[in-house]
Amino acid sequence: MPLVNEHYLTLTGAYLFPEIDRRVRAFQAARPDLADRIIRCGIGDVVGPIVPAVARAMHEAIDELADPARFRGYPPANGYEFLRHAIAEHDFRGRGAPIEDDEIFVSDGSKGDCGHVLEILGPDNVVALPDPVYPVYVDTNVMAGRTGPAIDGGGYEGLRTLPATPENEFVPDPPSDRVDIAYLCFPNNPTGATIDHDGLRRWVDWANANESLILFDAAYADFTRDPSLPRSIFEIPEARTCAIEFRSFSKHGAFTGVRCGYTVVPKDLHGRTRGGERIPMHRLWMRRWTTRANGVSWPVQRGAAALYSPEGRSQTEAVIDHYMTNARMLRDGCAALGWHAHGGENAPFVWVACPRCEDSWTFFERILHEAQVVITPGLGFGRLGEGFIRISAFNHRDRILEVVERLRGMC
Ligand code: MLT
Repeated sequence: MPLVNEHYLTLTGAYLFPEIDRRVRAFQAARPDLADRIIRCGIGDVVGPIVPAVARAMHEAIDELADPARFRGYPPANGYEFLRHAIAEHDFRGRGAPIEDDEIFVSDGSKGDCGHVLEILGPDNVVALPDPVYPVYVDTNVMAGRTGPAIDGGGYEGLRTLPATPENEFVPDPPSDRVDIAYLCFPNNPTGATIDHDGLRRWVDWANANESLILFDAAYADFTRDPSLPRSIFEIPEARTCAIEFRSFSKHGAFTGVRCGYTVVPKDLHGRTRGGERIPMHRLWMRRWTTRANGVSWPVQRGAAALYSPEGRSQTEAVIDHYMTNARMLRDGCAALGWHAHGGENAPFVWVACPRCEDSWTFFERILHEAQVVITPGLGFGRLGEGFIRISAFNHRDRILEVVERLRGMC
């Protein structure tokens, strides 16, 4: 009998979103009369469809694969040049961020890469994570054996916490003690908070001064409405020596099911061996990709590239407008009930303080039972998420209006 990876046994409970699904199914089984009334604003899954420019590009790509003269086999492990070039031009160089095409690694999504990156990082690094936080960063560290046991009330020994609270507008300060790796996510999941250039520069300066690494998750960058805000950490050029960035097509491109994203690893970024030798992280990440994967499929990469065409960009803008109008309606609706609502202005999530000091799972159950609306309890994002809920704006407009109406009916 093989030995199992016992680090998995350190994980507390199920992953957040399956646990929410389990509770929703339990409610549906108990109340079949209300089962069809449920509106889901929990996991940030989009309601689609993919935009016409993407659909056409993917159809054409399938036709090519069906044509013996145009068939393609293995793609380059790090992505086709046409897609890496479009990404580097549009998402980085066009915004003054000095990123080269071959610093982009196309993948099947940023969620996977957020965990895979640990493979090229030594096990003894001191890791700091915001609280509340996207649980994937925490759980993948646990699975990789980089933490101690779970702590009562949330979290794991060995991980440093960067508190993200209303007092600091959910933007943590760089740590004052030794940290090798810090995770940041802006626009933030779950709080919807943003960071400005000065705030980001403080983090980059801290990382360069301490030879630390920032793992920067910018999965929601395209939802940034305020043109003065940075979309990438590489808009601070000095981040080239201290950051890796993760990006996603899932939400603005309706790719949650298609699966495509990318990771940026600058060639100026180095780690070190125990003996002190400087090692380019780009070399290790390339080695990881060429060994472990055969890249992303041709139709998916053609579809992703279509997001950058003029037609694709204007169609996608309309999608983003739709979700951000939803977010504003949710935020205004909560505020009208006297609930303290954050986020929702440059991110598709609204972060709401539970009224009457309810705990977040209790409030989750109450909203489910009284309004048949699914939200995400803040505790699922960490100990400091307790007392908050997250409402996702990814839904149809009539559903969002109905959610606002039903929440009003609960009060
Ligand atoms: C979320 O709701 O936090 C995200 O949709 C989950 C994910 O992207 O994996």
